[in-house]
Amino acid sequence: MSKQLEKIKELIAKREQARLGGGEKAIEKQHARGKYTARERIDMLLDEGSFEEVDMFKLHRCTNFGMEKKQFLGDGVVAGSGTIDGRLVYVFAQDFTVNGGSLSETMAEKICKVMDMGMKMGAPVIGINDSGGARIQEGINALGGYAEIFERNILASGVIPQISGIFGPCAGGAVYSPALTDFTLMMENTSYMFLTGPKVVKTVTGEDIDQEHLGGASVHASKSGVTHFTAKTEEEAVEMIKTLISYIPQNNMEEAPRKKCTDPIDRKADILNEILPDDPNKAYDMYKVITAITDDGEFFEVQPKFAKNIIVGFARFNGQSVGIVANQPSAYAGVLDVNASRKGARFVRFCDAFNIPIVSLVDVPGFLPGTGQEYNAVILHGAQLLYAYGEATVPKVTVTLRKSYGGSHIVMGCKQLRTDINYAWPNAEIAVMGASGAVAVLYAKGAKEAENPAEYLAEKEQEYSDLFANPYQAAKYGYIDDVIEPRNTRFRICRALAQLATKRDSLPAKKHGNIPM
Ligand code: HXC
Repeated sequence: MSKQLEKIKELIAKREQARLGGGEKAIEKQHARGKYTARERIDMLLDEGSFEEVDMFKLHRCTNFGMEKKQFLGDGVVAGSGTIDGRLVYVFAQDFTVNGGSLSETMAEKICKVMDMGMKMGAPVIGINDSGGARIQEGINALGGYAEIFERNILASGVIPQISGIFGPCAGGAVYSPALTDFTLMMENTSYMFLTGPKVVKTVTGEDIDQEHLGGASVHASKSGVTHFTAKTEEEAVEMIKTLISYIPQNNMEEAPRKKCTDPIDRKADILNEILPDDPNKAYDMYKVITAITDDGEFFEVQPKFAKNIIVGFARFNGQSVGIVANQPSAYAGVLDVNASRKGARFVRFCDAFNIPIVSLVDVPGFLPGTGQEYNAVILHGAQLLYAYGEATVPKVTVTLRKSYGGSHIVMGCKQLRTDINYAWPNAEIAVMGASGAVAVLYAKGAKEAENPAEYLAEKEQEYSDLFANPYQAAKYGYIDDVIEPRNTRFRICRALAQLATKRDSLPAKKHGNIPM
C-alpha cells in the first residue's frame, strides 16, 4: 500500500472512531434509556446526506484529574451545517456518551464556531442539549465557554432564529443558553431543566421534590412557560422543529418562505356566522375560528399548555406565514393576566423581529383583577404586551370578534398602536368597560334613590349596551376600518395582508428600547 493510501486508511479509521463518540457501551446505555445519540439526532433532523461536520478531530486540553487519558475525538459535541427542506441551518448536538455531554472549553469553541457561521451566513442555529453541565474537571474554563455561548446567543437574538431542543439533562447555568434562544422544545420524561437539582433544593429550602416535578417538560410547558413545545418521542420532536423552521425566515433580512396555497382565499366559513352564543357571557372555542380561516385549517401552536387564555402560533394565509395572537374565551373567559401577557409579548416580538405579520383575533373582557395579579406585576407584564404590539412594525391586522374592553382593547393591537387594518364583527363590543361595571360606577347614587334599584340598574345597563356594545362607535371614529361578516374573515385577512405586503414602518433611532419586564 502506498504511503498516501495508508494515510487515507488512517483518516477513515479516525472518522469511524469519532463517529462512535464515547464508545459502543455508552451508546448502548444511551439507547437503553430510550434516547438517540447526538449523530442519530442530527441525521433525523437534516436532509439526508446534507450534514457537513466541523471539528470532528477536536480534543479537549484538560489535564486535571487524569483527564488527559479521557480523550474522545470530537469531544462531547457534534457540530456543523446541513439543510432542512433544502434550507441551510447550523446545528450542534451535545453527545452524552462522552463525559455525560459535559461542556468543556473546546466543546464551547465548537458550538461558538457554528453560531458564528450561522450569523455570517444568515441561517438558523439549532442546538440539541443533553449534558451534565459544565465539565467539572475544567473549572473556570468550562464556565468561560458557557459565557462565550451566552454572549453569542444574545448577539444573534433578533438576527437569526435560534432553537433549542432539550433531549436530556440541562441543569445549572447551562439552562441560560436555551432560555436566551427563541424557542425551546423539551422531551417528555427524558429531559429536565433547572438551576439547582433536587439535592440542593432539599438542602437550601427543605423541599422534597424529584427531577420531573422540579423541572420536567410538563412543569415548563404548563407552569413556568420556559418551554414552547414538548414531544413524546425524539422523532416527534424533530418533526416539530422542522415544522417550526418551515414557518420562519432564515434571518431578520428575509421573509418566511411562501407555501403554494390551494385553499381558495375567498372560501367562506359559514360556521363563523353562527359561532357566537346569544349570551355574551358564554364561551366558544377560539380554535374553531382559527382553523376555519387559515390555509387548510392548519395552525402550529406555540406554548399550547401555558396561559391557555391566550393562543399564539403560526399559520398561513394565501401561503404567507403569519403569527396569530388570539384570546381564548373558553379559558378564563379570555382574560389577560401576567402569564398571558408574557406569552403574547414574547411571540409578538419574535414575529416582529423576523418579518412575520401579526393577525390578532380579539375577544377579551379585560385584565384579571386581584392581589394575585397585582403582586406579580400584572402592570409591568401587561405593559410588556402593550409595548410589543406598539413597537412592532410588521403588517398588523386585528379582528375584534366580540368583547374588547378598556386597557385590554388597547393592548390587543388597537388602531392607535399602529395597527394597519382593524376589522370588527357585528357583535363586537368595544368600550371602556362592560355594561354592569360601568353602570355600577355611574349610577350607584341613582340606584340608592330609585324605587326599584334592580329595575333602574337594568334600564341603565340596557342604555349603556345600546350605546356602546357594538362596533359602530369605534367605526364612527375610524378606529375600526370596517365591520365585516364573520364568514368573510379569511378573505378579508388575505386581502389585507396582500395590501400590506410592501409596508414600510420604522422606530425612532435609538440604541434599544427598555421594555417593561
Ligand atoms: C464532568 C461529568 C459531568 C460533569 C456527568 N459527567 N456530568 N463529567 N463534568 N458536569 C460524567 C460522569 O462522571 C460519567 O462519566 C458520565 O458523565 C455519565 O454520567 P453518569 O452520572 O454516569 O450519568 P447519569 O447517571 O445518567 O447522570 C447524569 C447526570 C449526572 C444527572 C447529569 O451525571 C450529574 O448529576 N452530573 C453532574 C451535574 C452537575 O452538577 N453539573 C454541574 C452543574 S454546574 P464516566 O466516565 O463515569 O462515564 C454547571 C455550571 C454551569 O453546570 C454554569 C454556566 C454559567
